Amino acid sequence: MIGIDVTSVNRIKKMHDKFGERAYKRFLDEEEIALVKKVETAAGFWAAKEAASKAIGTGIGKECAFHDIKIKKSKKGAPKLKYTKKIRKKYNIKKTFLSITHDEGLAIAVVNNVLKV
Ligand SMILES: CC(C)(COP(=O)(O)OP(=O)(O)OC[C@H]1O[C@@H](n2cnc3c(N)ncnc32)[C@H](O)[C@@H]1OP(=O)(O)O)[C@@H](O)C(=O)NCCC(=O)NCCS
Repeated sequence: MIGIDVTSVNRIKKMHDKFGERAYKRFLDEEEIALVKKVETAAGFWAAKEAASKAIGTGIGKECAFHDIKIKKSKKGAPKLKYTKKIRKKYNIKKTFLSITHDEGLAIAVVNNVLKV
């Protein structure tokens, strides 16, 4: 199962200019916020979570909220994504792969879920 999303970096910047840290807290936890050194990264994380919610076929909402999805980074800077146990179980998810890119004011993310057989 795959999901994709594109996010305007400027939209995330405006949100952050207006609401500060609270804007990031809406879709990121403290550990994720600590990884954000530039707004492009935050936009990439937003896109990643939207893409992850699409990969399970729900979109962001009651069944899969931003905080049901956790993003980390490898030592080399590669992003990694994990759903809460509740979601992994419900949707039979064995492993999740994530890739993010940003350029020219857009951040794009693709998520691929490998399901248990
Ligand atoms: C790391 C690399 C894949 C990023 O590609 P890019 O075209 O510069 O930038 P993109 O916008 O397409 O992608 C950026 C995103 O790629 C992801 N990324 C970074 N390192 C990655 C890696 N090792 N593997 C997979 N994805 C990675 C991150 O999500 C990053 O977003 P962030 O900057 O918000 O953290 C690319 O620079 C590269 O291959 N570099 C070679 C290794 C290198 O020079 N590393 C420098 C640090 S020593």
